[in-house]
Amino acid sequence: MTELIKELMPQHVAIIMDGNGRWAKKKGVPRVAGHRAGMEAMKKIVDHSDKLGIKYLTVYAFSTENWKRSMEEVSGIFKLLVTFVNRDLRELIENNVCVKVLGDYSMIPKDSKEALEKTIHDTADNTGLQFNIALNYGARDEIIRSVKSIAARAKAGELEPEDIDEETIARGLWTGEEHAFSPDPELIIRTSGEERLSNFLLWQGAYSEFVFSDELWPDFTPEEYEKCIAEYQSRDRRFGGR
Ligand code: FPP
Repeated sequence: MTELIKELMPQHVAIIMDGNGRWAKKKGVPRVAGHRAGMEAMKKIVDHSDKLGIKYLTVYAFSTENWKRSMEEVSGIFKLLVTFVNRDLRELIENNVCVKVLGDYSMIPKDSKEALEKTIHDTADNTGLQFNIALNYGARDEIIRSVKSIAARAKAGELEPEDIDEETIARGLWTGEEHAFSPDPELIIRTSGEERLSNFLLWQGAYSEFVFSDELWPDFTPEEYEKCIAEYQSRDRRFGGR
């Protein structure tokens, strides 16, 4: 395994799990089989994040744009979500993992919603890795939500426009205090050779380091994950200073 520096371990890693479809095409199997393999890869990365002492892991599982895909693919992804939470819930609890969702998932299929709610409830008091699943998530959408709530508070006279600062906006995001409270990710990884942010964590990623892996997500292993973290650790982060 790669030599990693414990003191430079990121606290929060966010991942755009891209390439399930291409993986399936390469193998000549249905796209949903690619997502299934992606789910298994995700499981290993959750376990490994915990082992590495990472405190927050956020994965982009379903974007606000993903509804445009075929019914078969969309329902396949939600069925996988149920499989994942039901099959692995006990293990998540044993490993002290706390599951949270970034996004409004009220409109996802009923069985997926219930399984997810149970998982969130049963893992709520866990103090180990916080595993954020971005589901029906869009960064512009979350910024709009935050701005709307700020405007409502200003209109009600609870807030002066001059008092609006970064903290006010951050609070209304899914990673804000009232939802899945998480610090900004130091590292954002995207797999499959694509180098875009695709409406993921636009606000929170302002100072994140980006690492791109050529592996298709189902082929992304804990070894490759460690290489991405090592690449992050080799960077010189200056936050706009010198
Ligand atoms: C991107 O690959 C992947 C997704 C849109 C879905 C990610 C879903 C999983 C990993 C399934 C398991 C998730 C949970 C939470 C149980 P793509 O389909 O865009 O790949 P392509 O660009 O090669 O077509």
